[in-house]
Order: sequence, then structure tokens, then C-alpha cells
Amino acid sequence: MNFQLTEEHIMIQQAARDFAQNECKPGVIERDEHQKHPTELLRRMGELGFMGMMVSPEYGGSGLDTISYVLAMEEISKVDASCSVAMSVNNSLVCWGLETFGSEEQKRKYLPALASGETIGAFCLSEPEAGSDATQQRTTAEDMGDYYLLNGTKNWITNGGHAGIYLVIAQTYPEKRHKGINAFIVERNSPGVAVGAKENKLGIRGSDTHSIIFNDVKVPKENRIGEDGFGFKFAMKTLDGGRIGIASQALGIASGAFELSLAYAKQRKAFGKEISQHQAIQFKLADMATDIEAARLLCLKAAYLKDQHLPYGTAAAMAKVFASETAMKHTIEAVQIHGGYGYVKEYHVERLMRDAKITQIYEGTSEVQRIVIARNVLS
Ligand code: CAA
Repeated sequence: MNFQLTEEHIMIQQAARDFAQNECKPGVIERDEHQKHPTELLRRMGELGFMGMMVSPEYGGSGLDTISYVLAMEEISKVDASCSVAMSVNNSLVCWGLETFGSEEQKRKYLPALASGETIGAFCLSEPEAGSDATQQRTTAEDMGDYYLLNGTKNWITNGGHAGIYLVIAQTYPEKRHKGINAFIVERNSPGVAVGAKENKLGIRGSDTHSIIFNDVKVPKENRIGEDGFGFKFAMKTLDGGRIGIASQALGIASGAFELSLAYAKQRKAFGKEISQHQAIQFKLADMATDIEAARLLCLKAAYLKDQHLPYGTAAAMAKVFASETAMKHTIEAVQIHGGYGYVKEYHVERLMRDAKITQIYEGTSEVQRIVIARNVLS
């Protein structure tokens, strides 16, 4: 067992930290307040290689491992979880799903633009009546011979308003239930694709979340991913990796709140000494540091298993449930450590607390992660 990062890992971590602190931090409060999409920053992240981190250089990606991805996600999420969710969906749901299960033609056609940040992707699984119970897809993809006719509505789609490419999960053979589901690549400018209203959210307010409506959209046969009926497995397998990304986002939100709290506690005085000298604050910092380290190790372990091509679904679920609950618990503590200052925007921790909540919900709620873990321990 080796807990040592390589020199390359440390360089990537430093590059992500520099980008987050120098380029994301300056406008983050304003983007949050006005729900402003970080379009330019995402383009810049593409230039820096953060949008297709694990994509092979053959298809325009950075060719890095999942550990590098976890390290970069943590650093960017410390500052701006709206940027990091766009990065996570693009990397681990869209690019990874396409590279792993797409045809050679699909990979050549779509991956270079996604990996370079020229466009971004969205993953369209959730529906008004199919969230955790993802088999209940109402969106239909009728087989019309040389194309599929797509009809339905997807909800809470991250990157929805800015994506150029949607991966869409839809039902082709309702009588076969989840075995009749397919996954498709749908171009944003296809006739019949409409972007619904933008959600006004509690957190990750820079990220654009929309419903997407498909009305008689003709999807070419060659845009189906994998064998006929592979769509549900495609979604589940892709989400296993996506959960490593969201776990790392939660880790970053927690560690960002910890770093701010530590610095504040060393500088703020009360009752004649720095508040870091009071045991009430020391115990909070000790608990934060311990939980964050445990979350980091779970994220890195899941990433390591994925890189070694070993089963990682349960490890990813454990990382996600633990890291997201750590983020929620300790961002609340970070606000408490900051006292009245913690409740105002300039000190960043109230935003981190709002951003933390979604990590317990998207890419599988904490309850869904516990279903996945329980099934594994009981099998
Ligand atoms: N890998 C491969 N196959 C899998 C799998 C996995 N991880 N999980 C399930 N499957 C397969 C099963 O083996 C089964 O196949 P067979 O019938 O051939 O045996 C099939 O899928 C159905 O599985 P289950 O019987 O386990 O299905 P279920 O109805 O009990 O649901 C669930 C299981 C874990 C709850 C699943 O529905 C789930 O993960 N739900 C949450 C969905 C989710 O994460 N949504 C997030 C939306 S995307 C998002 O948030 C992106 C964003 O924008 C940020």
C-alpha cells in the first residue's frame, strides 16, 4: 500500500489550486448571487485540460488517471462548486460514458470538442417522475427504422442551457421495463429540442440547471450508445464513476470550508485570545480535519480501484455518502466558527454550506448510496 502522490499528481493538484484561487475566486460571490454561468471559466478549464481529464489523447483528452481527477475536483470545489459540477458531469458522465461505451465513430465525432471545452455535455436521466427510481423512464424513443423518435421531458439537467451535446436515456420497449431502455447522443441544435426554464436554486447557483424537452426529435440510429436495450446499464455504470466526481466535489467543499475556518480561527480574537485557543473551536477543527481526511481517503480509494479496473461501484457509493454528509455537517460548523461573519456572503462559508446540500442529492441521493452499499454488504 502506498499513500504517496506522484510528482505528476502533485503538479496537477497545484495547477488546479492555482486556477481555482487565481481565476475562479475573484467573481465567485457575484456569480452565485446573480446565477451567472461561468462560461469563460469553463472554456479556460478546457484549455487547461480539466474538461477531459481522463479522455485519451487520441480523442483530444489529457489521458490522466482518476486520482488526478479527484485531486483537481477537490481544489476547484474548494472555491467554486458551480464550475466543478460542470467539470464533473462533462468528465465522468459524458466523456467517460462515451469513451467507454461509444462506437469509434461516436468517439471521433464528439469527444474532441467535449474534452477541449469547445462545448460541454449534459446527462439526461432524471424526469419529473423518475429520480431515484430511475427505471421508470417516461421519455420514449420509438424505433422508426433508420432513426428513433424521441419524446419526453428531462428535469434538473446540469449544464442544460449551455450543453452542445446531451446523453439522453429513454424507453424503447416499455414491456421490457429497464431492459428496454436505450441511451442516445442528441445534439442540442436538433429540431424539436427545447431548453426549459432555468431553476432558481439554493446552491451551485452559477451552474445552469434546466428541464430539457424533446418533441418529436429524430435521433439517427448511429447515435444510440451500445446494444439495443443497454441504456439502463449504461446509466448505472456511468453513474458509478460520476459518484467519485461528486464525492470529490463534496470533499472540496468541506476542505474549502475547513481552510477558511482554520485561518479565521487563528486571526479572530475573543475573551482575550485567538478563538483557535479555545477548546470549543479546537474540537470543531479536529473533527473537521478527521472527517475530511477520511472522505479524501475514500475518494482516492474509489479512484484507485477504477484506475486498476477493479470493481468500484460500492467504494464510489461509500465515498459519496460519507463525503457529502461530511460537507453538509462541517460547512454548518464553518459558519458557526465564523459567527456573524459566517452568515454574510463575503466570508464564503455560507455559500459553501448552501452548495454542500446538493451533493447529498444529485447523482444518487444519500439514501440511494445506502441502497447500493447495503446490497453489496448483504450479497
Ligand atoms: N452497474 C451495472 N449494472 C447495474 C448497476 C451498476 N452499478 N446497478 C444496477 N445495475 C443493473 C442490475 O444488475 C439490473 O440488471 P439485470 O436486470 O440485468 O439484473 C438492472 O440494472 C436493474 O437494477 P436494480 O434491480 O438494482 O434496479 P433498481 O430499480 O432496484 O434501482 C438504484 C437501483 C440503485 C436505486 C438505481 O435506480 C439508482 O442508482 N437510482 C438513482 C439514479 C441516480 O443516481 N440519478 C442521478 C441523476 S444524474 C445526475 O444527477 C447528473 C447531474 O446532472 C449532476
